[in-house]
Amino acid sequence: MRLAPYTLREKIIVKISQHIMPTLTLFLWSHRLNTLVWRLLGANVGRKSTIRLGTIINAPFAIKIGNGSHIHGNFLSRGGVTIGNRVYICNATISTQAQDLRSPQFEPIFQPVVFEDHAWVSLNSTVLQGVTVKEGGIVAAGAVVTNDVAPWTVVGGVPAKPIGERARLIRN
Ligand SMILES: CC(C)(COP(=O)(O)OP(=O)(O)OC[C@H]1O[C@@H](n2cnc3c(N)ncnc32)[C@H](O)[C@@H]1OP(=O)(O)O)[C@@H](O)C(=O)NCCC(=O)NCCS
Repeated sequence: MRLAPYTLREKIIVKISQHIMPTLTLFLWSHRLNTLVWRLLGANVGRKSTIRLGTIINAPFAIKIGNGSHIHGNFLSRGGVTIGNRVYICNATISTQAQDLRSPQFEPIFQPVVFEDHAWVSLNSTVLQGVTVKEGGIVAAGAVVTNDVAPWTVVGGVPAKPIGERARLIRN
């Protein structure tokens, strides 16, 4: 999908997020304080969730996080990132943005990325535009995820393929 240009307010937030937050995060000594600053920049963060120190989000107004989730990494979020409850994202890169390779103008295109409840995204992995990591899905360290991850399935490698299954939570 193509998006309308940023409003002036969004432009200012993007500048702060990309140019001030990487330095400011060095001085914010707690994850909660860091989360508060990202909230002030427009991130929609649920109860008992944190945006860990060192995280960079280029468009914080386009990210929504549920309850009890903890995220850390680099988020190119303009196309929309939705994170459910009890999701863990650990030093990963999440991109909602690509270029249209068929366009001579090489225009940006955006697709949202979704992490359903209980998803876990491990170290140094990359999740690309349009992907949904379904409930309980696990992305192994170093994976590049280009397609949806099935519920309670572990994916790994480049491009990521299923490598295992995870025990489902038993609900009463
Ligand atoms: C995804 C993960 C949890 C899998 O653990 P596991 O279920 O115990 O898996 P195993 O070690 O039994 O390996 C199962 C298979 O997957 C492969 N595999 C494991 N991790 C992999 C990875 N990151 N990428 C690709 N393949 C991987 C193994 O080689 C093995 O393949 P084989 O059966 O052909 O030998 C783990 O490998 C991982 O990536 N952990 C991330 C740790 C991390 O990020 N820690 C930071 C704290 S948040």
